Amino acid sequence: MSATRKRDLVSIDDLTNAEIEGLFTLADEMAADRKAVRDLARGLILVTLFYEPSTRTRLSFEAAMLRLGGSYQSCPNMDDTSAAKGESLADTLRVVGRYGDVVVLRHPREGASRVAARYSPVPIVNAGDGGREHPTQTLIDLYTIARDKRKLDGLCVAFTGDLRYGRTVHSLAYALARFGADIVCLPAKGLELPHHVVRRLETDFGCFPVKLTPADLKGAFEKTEGLLLTAGRPFQPDLFSNAERRSAIQRRLAHVDVLYVTRVQKERLKGEAVGDLPVIDLALLSENRFRNALVLHPLPRVNEIACEVDDDPRARYFTQVERGVPVRMAILAHVLGLKDLVVVEKSAKRRAAPPLYRSDVGLHCPSPGCITATELGYLTPEFHVLERRPLRLRCAFCDFLVEPRWVASRHERVFHRFDSPHSAKIHLENLVIFGSVDEAKRAGFEPADLAEIER
Ligand code: CP
Repeated sequence: MSATRKRDLVSIDDLTNAEIEGLFTLADEMAADRKAVRDLARGLILVTLFYEPSTRTRLSFEAAMLRLGGSYQSCPNMDDTSAAKGESLADTLRVVGRYGDVVVLRHPREGASRVAARYSPVPIVNAGDGGREHPTQTLIDLYTIARDKRKLDGLCVAFTGDLRYGRTVHSLAYALARFGADIVCLPAKGLELPHHVVRRLETDFGCFPVKLTPADLKGAFEKTEGLLLTAGRPFQPDLFSNAERRSAIQRRLAHVDVLYVTRVQKERLKGEAVGDLPVIDLALLSENRFRNALVLHPLPRVNEIACEVDDDPRARYFTQVERGVPVRMAILAHVLGLKDLVVVEKSAKRRAAPPLYRSDVGLHCPSPGCITATELGYLTPEFHVLERRPLRLRCAFCDFLVEPRWVASRHERVFHRFDSPHSAKIHLENLVIFGSVDEAKRAGFEPADLAEIER
């Protein structure tokens, strides 16, 4: 990040691996000598804006700011603010960004923090946006793993619970993949990792997904529809016979380094049926594969981990809480430009963003949780173009993956299938994309070839 650019933290991808390691070194310093930093943020104000309930994130950010010598302003209940009168998120951030020096935002919609970062004059820190990401929780989780296991590369991290709506899972999975850890998904039925997250782990971070069988998982998670996402491609079918491959996978699953447990995010369910999972208790943790596994949970827990586990040395969830304050002190010091990160740039280059498609006409993000579903009045739909053939786009706000089939040129009034010879010739700056034939017709476009519609 340049010294002059506003330092928002809306995604774990806003930090390179080397910057994350630099933040951890800063967090170590904050924990080791609180007196040395007690005046660092004197005169500065943190605003905590939470549209959803929170205990840890809000209070630990406020504690972190107080320990840095700064102060904070908060809205205990967003229903008592002008958000309840219909004030847009953009206007709210334009306003509170003129009171404080940094804003920590939690919002129920995916991509809200990206919108906030565009309109706020001061840095935005994402404290969880819908089911998308929770990057500061990820930094705490990653810090706990890195300090307890002394490495991240090559670890085997199992996620269980709600992998669909659990935002902490998504940002932690991206970070672990970047650091070269393997990921094992053990979701409750109906709460599997979303397709767009799995695809991103494959395409952006080089993970290779392998479906797990009851024989791979035998034990408490035997009935789970498990998925192994390996960093790199060690279990490609063409490298192994089937039997060799299964035996290599089972060897990989024999030593779980971290068991990351999450609660079902009931507040995000839309009436879907959800399966049960085993409670994490001492009997389950007596399985050989968990003998050295740290048990992490972002909390709050709602019966996923039996209280008898709390005194086991593998239980690290209250250590995560404790480490949250120095990690968030380091985050605040960084985004406020109060401390430079000591960054040893190994191979950690920031990836170039794919080209952007932006249009008021045509495609809108179809994800119901996307911030554009409620704030579209002043936002133009935007997508990163991952591929032209097949046409694959990622919503620039909520990261949802869209595979539309219809395109047109801005200079014509006819539309084509994305894979027609004509479509390939339309330059990105002239492209209009449609999510459906009806959407194209409503926008005043006609099919170039009726037979294409029936295809
Ligand atoms: N882990 C976490 O985000 O907790 P809160 O919801 O209490 O902030």
